[in-house]
Formats: sequence, structure tokens, C-alpha cells
Amino acid sequence: MKITVIGAGNMGSAFVKQLTRAGHEVSVTARDAANAERVAAANPGAVAMTSAGSAAGADAVVLATGYDDALGALQAVGNLEGTVVIDITNPLTADYTGLSLGHDTSAAEEIAKAVPGAEVVKAFNTVFAQVLAEGADFGSNRKVTVFYAADTDRAKHTARVIAESMGFATIDAGGLKHARYLEPLAFLNIYLGYGAGLGSNIAPAWIRKN
Ligand SMILES: NC(=O)c1ccc[n+]([C@@H]2O[C@H](COP(=O)([O-])OP(=O)(O)OC[C@H]3O[C@@H](n4cnc5c(N)ncnc54)[C@H](OP(=O)(O)O)[C@@H]3O)[C@@H](O)[C@H]2O)c1
Repeated sequence: MKITVIGAGNMGSAFVKQLTRAGHEVSVTARDAANAERVAAANPGAVAMTSAGSAAGADAVVLATGYDDALGALQAVGNLEGTVVIDITNPLTADYTGLSLGHDTSAAEEIAKAVPGAEVVKAFNTVFAQVLAEGADFGSNRKVTVFYAADTDRAKHTARVIAESMGFATIDAGGLKHARYLEPLAFLNIYLGYGAGLGSNIAPAWIRKN
């Protein structure tokens, strides 16, 4: 697939690494062009682009900026009518002690409202950057799960195919509204990793009795 990654930080760089390894055609942008260029240079097959026009012809755009930068970043890439946008953001408060919105909305729903032509899918927000960068295989036949929530089959399908191409297990978490539950789940993961000391090499999973 042709995939544009907006953001070249912890998550953006890990996406570029795993997406190029999976054989996708990857473009990466950042606020500072030098950061996108550095990430592209480290991952053969990736190209750095300036924001304007970087989403043209993309099968998916991965939104890997902070939530507060998300709308500006999406507007800067140009027309997203009919484009699948994979929203990985968690709307953390400035002091990282909670979420800045939720319960009756979510970052994903706010983004979808602000970019109405795009097909937004919430996914990957419960996956730590370290886990994404190191890979989905947790050993003993266990794979990290990517939960995805969207209102269109096309957006869900795109997120699932991309996640599975990088080796993740996937679970359909319902409509985009269910980002209201995935974002708090990610915050619990952050608390467990950093607050409770489990470290960032963890991931939430659902288990079913055989
Ligand atoms: N870190 C994690 O473990 C993790 C896990 C799951 C979800 N998330 C979510 O993923 C998102 C990114 O997290 P992160 O840790 O990767 O953050 P980060 O390291 O701070 O990276 C953010 C990136 O966004 C870029 N950016 C900001 N505004 C932009 C714009 N207008 N156009 C293009 N690029 C722009 C920045 O560009 P510059 O490099 O030029 O500054 C930077 O590369 C956040 O919403 C976070 O909640 C993070």
C-alpha cells in the first residue's frame, strides 16, 4: 500500500521502520523537514516529503502527531476527501496524568468532525512506540493486538491489513464512537507502563477461554 506517515517522532519513526519492512511504499513528514529526512534515510524505501500534497494518492495516512497538533497537521497535507486516516493519538493532558477529553467524545471523533471527508479509524493507540519499533512478536506464540474502531468497512479493512502486514493480531472494536473506550485503555496502559513501573514493553490483550 501507499502510506503517508505524518510525524517522525517515537511513533512515526517506528511506523516507517515496520511499514517499509512490510513492503509498503512509505512517505514521512514532520514539522521540521530534517526530522522526516533522518527517519527516511534510516529506512530504505521511505521518502521524506513536505506536508503539502503528501497524502495525494495515499491508501492510508497515519496520524502520528500529538493530539493538539493533529488538526493543523491534517489540514497541511491537503485534500483528504475519501482518504483513510489512521488516528493513533491519545489526547493526554499536558502533565500526562490523564486525558483531556473523553466519555462523551474522543480524539478520533473530534478529528473526524474536523476533517469530514476523511474515513477515520482509531487504531494503534494502545501500542507503545517501543513495542511498535521492536515488533509485534511477544514470544510463546503471542502477538501484540491492534484494536481498531471505525464507521466504514473500508477504514477498518485498511487498518487491519496494515496491522497484520506488520505482524500484529487485530480485533475489530466497533464503530468510531468506541474510540471513547480505546483512548482510556491506552491511558491505563501508559499508567501501568510508567506509573506502576511495568515498563513500556507491555501491551493490552483480550483472552478467550478455549
Ligand atoms: N509514544 C508512544 O508510545 C505512543 C503510543 C501510542 C500512541 N501514541 C500517540 O502517538 C502520537 C505521537 O506520539 P510520539 O510519541 O511519536 O510523539 P513525538 O515523538 O513527540 O512525535 C510527534 C511528531 O509529530 C510531528 N508533528 C507535529 N506537528 C506536525 C505537523 N503540523 N505536521 C507534521 N508533523 C508534525 C513532530 O514533528 P517534529 O519531529 O518536526 O517535531 C514529531 O515528529 C501522540 O498522539 C501519542 O499520544 C504514542
